[in-house]
Amino acid sequence: MIIRPFTDADLAAVTAIYADSVLSGTGTFELDVPTADQMDARLAVPASLGLPVLIAEIDGQVAGYAYAGPYRLRAAYRFLVEDSIYVAEAFRGRGVGKALLEALLSACEALGMRQMVAVIGDSANAGSIALHAAAGFEHVGIFHAAGWKFDAWRDVVFMQKALGLGATAAPDSPGLDCGR
Ligand SMILES: CC(C)(COP(=O)(O)OP(=O)(O)OC[C@H]1O[C@@H](n2cnc3c(N)ncnc32)[C@H](O)[C@@H]1OP(=O)(O)O)[C@@H](O)C(=O)NCCC(=O)NCCS
Repeated sequence: MIIRPFTDADLAAVTAIYADSVLSGTGTFELDVPTADQMDARLAVPASLGLPVLIAEIDGQVAGYAYAGPYRLRAAYRFLVEDSIYVAEAFRGRGVGKALLEALLSACEALGMRQMVAVIGDSANAGSIALHAAAGFEHVGIFHAAGWKFDAWRDVVFMQKALGLGATAAPDSPGLDCGR
């Protein structure tokens, strides 16, 4: 497996992986499949802030992707990022998500980020909850019945991990340039 930066050539594969999760999973609360152009615009946000957008490649195929984005655009949030990880169904359960998350964590720590949060669609999303727990994320909260998808109320589970010095020291970098 190779973990490498996203390039434009990956856009179709990334769009297809996400589309499958929109249509068949509750990890995302999106109901309509975004177009490739819309996905491109979304991925441009973390990229424009210098945050990692990563691809896991196996035998020349895009097995999964991950990125870290700003949690909120208010200035004080500039040391907090939210991760997004999607693995193609055929490649799940083989360590792809774990490799992507480890790479995201390292990259964000190196950028001076201090906290990462996972906003996980659905309490029943065992894969995402286990993935984040295995990487050292702790459960920090839950919004009950936050979304309605596939004819049922779905919770949102929040998990969090400190990066680098976390909250033990003041920031030592400027943080994300997203503040307003
Ligand atoms: C969540 C997801 C990214 C996990 O990726 P993956 O490549 O299958 O996960 P990995 O094989 O790297 O497994 C990582 C850890 O999670 C555990 N795990 C993975 N899937 C699991 C499942 N369905 N049930 C229980 N544990 C699971 C693994 O055992 C492993 O733990 P370990 O390191 O202690 O052995 C993938 O299932 C996925 O894309 N799901 C749909 C989209 C989604 O929900 N994304 C997250 C949005 S918040």
